[in-house]
Amino acid sequence: MANETENAWEAKYQTGDTPWEMAGECDRLAGLVQAGLIRPCHALELGCGSGAVAVHMAQLGFQVTALDIAPTAIEQARRLAANSGLEVNFVCADVTQWPGEGEPFDFVYDRGCYHVIRRDSGAGYLATLVRVTRPGSQVLLLAGNAAEPSGIRGGPPGVTEDEIRTDFAPWFDIVTLEPFHLQGRQGQQGPLFWSCRMVRVCR
Ligand SMILES: C[S@@+](CC[C@H](N)C(=O)[O-])C[C@H]1O[C@@H](n2cnc3c(N)ncnc32)[C@H](O)[C@@H]1O
Repeated sequence: MANETENAWEAKYQTGDTPWEMAGECDRLAGLVQAGLIRPCHALELGCGSGAVAVHMAQLGFQVTALDIAPTAIEQARRLAANSGLEVNFVCADVTQWPGEGEPFDFVYDRGCYHVIRRDSGAGYLATLVRVTRPGSQVLLLAGNAAEPSGIRGGPPGVTEDEIRTDFAPWFDIVTLEPFHLQGRQGQQGPLFWSCRMVRVCR
């Protein structure tokens, strides 16, 4: 299963079939950082793709580890960081089986990884998220919104509010859960998403 998943995502990066990269990456995160709700800290990005957000976070002063299953995505991400003169710890691994790297992370960012994994390996994803955080750690999850059927704009898999609440409730308090549209790079409206900010609790 892990190999099939890796091969499928690797093929997308090798052929440039990565339509999600058309969306502007970091508006939600940048807004929360500007508002002081998320502060630069020891951070992890799950499903980082070719690294634009990880590098942006490093620019903002975060100490970043960023993980993706596709080797080509990680190669592209390492090149981007090197060209930007910034240090990011890029890891090529399957999030559902990743043991972590010792010290828990204070902040985890995920745009588009949970929503592609949850149907087949949701339990593995959650187990990793719990393993690599501690009470007080924050998570910003950006996931496709089921209110917009997949396919309308070649959009992402959608999840419902109930699914998010049920998946994360055992371990996380949801601080905000709100729908928003991704912005395309040229400012056009992208697919409908959820923005979910959570805090790890001690359960
Ligand atoms: C829809 S893309 C989003 C990429 C990036 N976060 C963005 O918003 O541009 C999903 C990403 O998750 C990665 N991915 C899928 N399954 C994964 C897994 N099991 N472990 C780690 N990464 C995975 C894919 O390689 C891909 O880069």
